[in-house]
Formats: sequence, structure tokens, C-alpha cells
Amino acid sequence: MTSTLALLGGEPAVTAPGPHFQWPPIDDTTRAKVAAQLETAISIPGRSGIVADLEDGLQEYFGVRHAITTSSGTAALHTTYWAAGVRPGDEVIVPAWTFHATASPLFSLRAVPVLCETRPDGNIDPTRIEELITPRTRAIMATHLWGRPADMAEVVKVANTHDLVVLEDGSHAHGASIAGQKTGTFGLASAFSLNGPKPLSGGEGGFVLTDEDETYYRTVAFAHYNKRARNEIPDGHPLARYAATGAGLKLRIHPLAAALARDQLDRLDGYLAGRTEIARYLTRHLSGVRGLRLALMPDGVVPSWYGLTVTYKPDELGGLPIETFHRALIAEGATEFDRPGSTRPMNLLPLYQQPGPLFPGHPHSHRPYQAGDFPIAEHVHAHTIKLPVWHREQDLELAEQYIRAAVKISDHHEELL
Ligand SMILES: Cc1ncc(COP(=O)(O)O)c(C=O)c1O
Repeated sequence: MTSTLALLGGEPAVTAPGPHFQWPPIDDTTRAKVAAQLETAISIPGRSGIVADLEDGLQEYFGVRHAITTSSGTAALHTTYWAAGVRPGDEVIVPAWTFHATASPLFSLRAVPVLCETRPDGNIDPTRIEELITPRTRAIMATHLWGRPADMAEVVKVANTHDLVVLEDGSHAHGASIAGQKTGTFGLASAFSLNGPKPLSGGEGGFVLTDEDETYYRTVAFAHYNKRARNEIPDGHPLARYAATGAGLKLRIHPLAAALARDQLDRLDGYLAGRTEIARYLTRHLSGVRGLRLALMPDGVVPSWYGLTVTYKPDELGGLPIETFHRALIAEGATEFDRPGSTRPMNLLPLYQQPGPLFPGHPHSHRPYQAGDFPIAEHVHAHTIKLPVWHREQDLELAEQYIRAAVKISDHHEELL
């Protein structure tokens, strides 16, 4: 290759005009459905209309008895913990590396997030769970980071041995599966985000899945006071008398978001099939690039490809810092290459190091976290570059240009040292 690096004044490898990745895909059918919703209802207090349509669709897609929409993934997680019976002082084991909202709602419940080391793929390491279990442990929460399923067989095994509840944060992993079983269906309940870039997007929104009636009633009581609680919690149930107020929160999805998500749900499997093809292509070509490593998926593991992660190996490139390699990618026009920012090991976040000022007297205060507590999660996070995965055949040309950018920098890395 004779080209000079764009960071040093050469021609960029990526010539396609931006933006290179927009999500969710919106066409005229989507526009018409959302516009029709504007004319139908823009506030739906009960389980009816587009909210019922979406929840029915989610139940069918995931093969679960109950899907309950919420205003966000964060709200879905908050609801899931409460619905699963997490009480003040309870401990919940969560992966050290995830988006913080996987665990942060626990603070509001005065429960304690206990961080667990991850595997190099970023998911909770089931072999490190047992050492964290105490008489106060109530549940284990697994995230499927970047859409790659966690090792749920092992998580469930540890949980069953210790009589713990299994919960999942499926916010990156709509439609992902392990041996044919969809993520979000391995435990008592799961929470998903429908936020902007998520594999299934409503712009904003979220949902809770569960097969268990009691958890369903508690979900409704927590997230949907008044009409839904009155209609859906059976007379005579101990929560029925609280229906008017629920637990005091209203966490309802917007009908326009529900209309967008409902439209997208029908397309989800098509998106995933397209992403799988392009992820395969990217993996094949980027794996051969000096300084970069890509993980192979075990048999039977189907990710959602929310993100394709590349592990950077500076020692193969003369110690070139990842920051410089990343800046060089951006200069080449490969602007979708990203380093995970907000999704970082939570021991690095002030809320987890020192929750006291925000939650005075919180029981977490006796267990402050600090940098260095989770060497594997922190190392992998610091060496990760990620890419969103396109789903259309015509995007292969763009993928090819991104590969060319990475190859060019790797081949010419000495010029950056
Ligand atoms: C893993 C994970 N959990 C939870 C959330 C929170 O979802 P929301 O933004 O819909 O509140 C996100 C959002 O980015 C996420 O990535």
C-alpha cells in the first residue's frame, strides 16, 4: 500500500459521504404508521391500542406470557428489580462492565449492586459469582454486552445452586439467542431498552418480560398506576387495593414510540440476518489485521450485533496508543469506529465509588469501588474499539472501506510512533 495516512495529510480511505450509520431505518411505511398513530391516540392509559399491539407482538416474538412496556430501559430495569422483590439492603450481583443503568436503579431501592468481574468478552464471568454471594444476595443480573449473549447456562446453574433469582438486561440483545433460546427468557424477568440505537428501537421506551403472573402484577403496580393496575391486577390480589397509586410512579411508553417500535419489530429478524452477514464479512477481514483481534462466536450463539468489538493489541504495533490508532481511523473517514464511553466498568464511576452524597446512608457505602478492582473488565474496556453493524447488502462497500482504513493504519503504524 502506498497511500499516506490521512492523519498525516494523506487521502482518507473512506470516500462515502456521511452519515455512515443511521438507526433505526425509517421508510415511508414507518412514517405512515407513526403519522396514523398521531390521529388515533397520543395518550394511552390502559393496555389498549398500539400499546397492546406492541406488547402482544413482543410476547409472541419472545415466546413469553407477559410483556409490559415502559418509558425507557432504565425504567424497565427499575421496575424489574422491584417486581422481582429486591428489598432495601438486598445485594444484587451485576457485571462490572455494563451501561450503568443496568444496576443504578438499585440505589433508589436502597439495594446494593455487587460488581462481578467479567470475561474478556465483557459479559459476567459465572465462575466469579459464587465468591460474591452472601446471606443478603437476592439476585444475579446479566447483561448481554454489545448483543453477545452471556453464558446463561452457567449463570442459571450458580443461581439455582444458591436459590437466587436470575434477571437479564437485554438492552443490547433483542433477538439474540443461545441454542435457539432468546436472550431475555432465561430468568424470572428481563428488561430491555427501546432507546434510539438499540436493535429494536422506538426512539425512547423499554419493556419488561416475564412468564410469572406475580412478577407481572408487581410490574404493573410499579410502572402503571391507576387504569392498568385496576384492570390487570385481579380483585382479591394483595396489590389490588393499591391500584389507584401503584407504588407512586408512572413509567408509561409514549404511543408514538410504541408505533415506531411495533413497526420495527416486524423487521427485526430481517435486520439481524443482514447484520449477521456483514458482521461475518467484517470479522473475516479485520481478524487478519495486525494489532486487531476479533472474537469468534461459539456454536449456537447468535448475537444481535448491536456492536462489533475489536480488541486492540498495541504490542503488535510498536506500542502505538489506542487513542492514536482511533484518531487515525477517524481521520481516514471511518467515523463510526468508536471507543466505549458511557458503557464502562462501573467501578470507575463516582456513583459506585461514592454513592453517599446522592444516597445518604445507603448501605452501599461500606463497599466503595475504585479503579483497579476489575482488571479484566478494565483492560478489555481500555483496549476496545467498536463498530455498529450495517444490515443492508449495499452497505458492504462501506464495510469494505472501513476495513481498508484499518489495514492502512496498521500497515503504516510506524509513521505514527
Ligand atoms: C445495557 C443497557 N441497559 C440499560 C440502558 C438504559 O436504557 P434507556 O436509555 O432506554 O433508559 C441502556 C441504554 O443505553 C443500555 O445500554
